[in-house]
Amino acid sequence: MTTGSQPSPTQVQGLQHVDPQATARLRHLLFGAEILQAISVAASLGVPDLLADGPRSYTELAEATGTDAQTLLRVLRVLAAEGVLTQDENDCFGLTPVGNLLRTGVTGSQRASAIMKGSPYEWAAWGAFRRSVDDGGAAFRHAHGIGLFQYLDGHPDAAEVFNDMMTGITGAKCGAILGSYDFSWAGTYADVGGGHGILMARVLAAHPGMKGILFDLPSVADAAREQLDGAGVSDRCRVVGGSFLETVPPGADLYSLVSVLLNWTDQDAQRILRACHAAMRGNGRLLVVDWLVPPGGEPHPSKYVDLQMLALFGGRQRTEQEHRVLLTESGFEVTRVTDTRSGFSLIEAVPR
Ligand SMILES: C[S@@+](CC[C@H](N)C(=O)[O-])C[C@H]1O[C@@H](n2cnc3c(N)ncnc32)[C@H](O)[C@@H]1O
Repeated sequence: MTTGSQPSPTQVQGLQHVDPQATARLRHLLFGAEILQAISVAASLGVPDLLADGPRSYTELAEATGTDAQTLLRVLRVLAAEGVLTQDENDCFGLTPVGNLLRTGVTGSQRASAIMKGSPYEWAAWGAFRRSVDDGGAAFRHAHGIGLFQYLDGHPDAAEVFNDMMTGITGAKCGAILGSYDFSWAGTYADVGGGHGILMARVLAAHPGMKGILFDLPSVADAAREQLDGAGVSDRCRVVGGSFLETVPPGADLYSLVSVLLNWTDQDAQRILRACHAAMRGNGRLLVVDWLVPPGGEPHPSKYVDLQMLALFGGRQRTEQEHRVLLTESGFEVTRVTDTRSGFSLIEAVPR
């Protein structure tokens, strides 16, 4: 407490102590919406792509994107303040390494992720997030009346963004997955919920003698052929459409579920695992690839993705132990857990 006539800046209303650092930290956290929307809008306007060859003035960027120059400037300066862009004294903006990841087609691109996170349909789910916390169900369903995968089925533009997002996320991890697990023993490999086939393409390209089965919802599986053609492996890969809540194609030695179980409640995750179990031969193996939530209160991406899974799907990220319980109750025995050092872990399991 000070003895002067004026209260110190940290003494307000009844001499309570206000920690300016805590205030600043909380205020920054509360600006999450502003930051996300600025990133998302800039990505959807293609601003990072327009900066691929070097910095440009905000007026040039506004002309190229058909936006109001003074308003775009307000968005861009927040991105500069957040280290996504650089800004010089003439209000020319350039890419930082962070902003570079918002470009189309660069390795590890997060452009689609940024667009989806700020989209009106995802945003509507966050508006209903309190409902998720009340009942554990998907806020997306509260907001839209249907599940996200059903929504994507009826909205091809949104589906394209979602599938591009997954190709970006999984594409960035393929090297770590291939480096952490020896796929070579499998004559036939099935990727269940394999999306547009980025991992399948990489696994088959690395193992010329292997055959593949890519399984996903019919509308998603159909579009996977492009990726497989591009990798020159489509003659060795059967693309099958269907629902893993019902059945999974038989005939593979190795099955994988990559970033799949997190979209589902425990009950539905067990349905998927049982469908895999029913498809597998006695010597088959299952590979679950997912984030594992670490114990304790340290920051970890899985804890944030967990809330996203709750809001969008009523799903969840799981700890290693929670995965073990799911697998055991679905008839599997865990044989190995490997940290790929890319965020993802691999859990190998065999039918009991
Ligand atoms: C989060 S994405 C993961 C995609 C891919 N494994 C990857 O890592 O990029 C989940 C996948 O599950 C698929 N999916 C959702 N419901 C499904 C169902 N009932 N049957 C089969 N696949 C389904 C989606 O279409 C999507 O491709």
